[in-house]
Amino acid sequence: MNEVEVWWAGIGQARPEFVADLNAVEQERYARYLRDADKARFLLGVTMVRRLLGARMSLPPANVVLDRACRDCGKPHGKVQAEGVELSVSHSGDWVGLAIGTAPVGLDVEQIGSLVDVDGVAGMSLAPEELQELKRYDGIEKARAFTRYWTRKEALLKATGDGIGAGLSTVVVSPPDQPAAVVRWNSGPAQLSDLEIDTNHLAALAVLSAEPPVVRVDQFRV
Ligand SMILES: CC(C)(COP(=O)(O)OP(=O)(O)OC[C@H]1O[C@@H](n2cnc3c(N)ncnc32)[C@H](O)[C@@H]1OP(=O)(O)O)[C@@H](O)C(=O)NCCC(=O)NCCS
Ligand SMILES: [Zn+2]
Repeated sequence: MNEVEVWWAGIGQARPEFVADLNAVEQERYARYLRDADKARFLLGVTMVRRLLGARMSLPPANVVLDRACRDCGKPHGKVQAEGVELSVSHSGDWVGLAIGTAPVGLDVEQIGSLVDVDGVAGMSLAPEELQELKRYDGIEKARAFTRYWTRKEALLKATGDGIGAGLSTVVVSPPDQPAAVVRWNSGPAQLSDLEIDTNHLAALAVLSAEPPVVRVDQFRV
């Protein structure tokens, strides 16, 4: 069966003592983040992966083997991977999310309104029919509609592991006020859905499979 667990943690759940379970590469990345919020989101994402996989594998979190190698350059900033499961991590604003699947998964959460130039970014990331649709919106509603597009598209590109370097405008998704669906994409079968978080954040989940997944959403507890 095609199953996905989605776990959410609030940024306030991060604790300095979690750093002890990070490997050397993760500790170095943690140390390099300048802003406390970026540190907390990264630390929580790593902690969620290590603790949840550790529980599944009956291993201490620090002993879970993770591969973070970037497909393009080999540096440890790529999609986090572990043997036997499919993973996707996302963080934005107040939230950190982790999807654990049996088929390749892509999770994306974005805080609404953090973008100053919606039209500029939309011009570079939306397909012509999506841009046309976006014209129906103004102000914060426009930011919200654009963020809906962005999360749906980025979730798909995170599922393949290509990331947004593959070009967000190569993926066409359904209009923001309609249920999430892939309209046009030069890739295999994919299942797309929106996930509810709170009024300031939007999120989407993509699963590369022909069958709709069974999705379970839960709050991560430390
Ligand atoms: C990587 C990328 C998807 C992250 O997007 P974002 O909105 O900034 O961040 P998110 O919080 O949603 O996702 C972060 C997570 O994505 C994962 N990730 C990294 N590269 C990824 C990829 N190619 N595909 C899927 N997931 C990826 C990581 O696990 C990361 O979590 P981490 O902080 O624990 O390392 C996006 O920045 C991107 O596609 N960048 C272009 C890729 C690129 O330039 N690669 C070449 C670098 S040499
Ligand atoms: Zn790289």
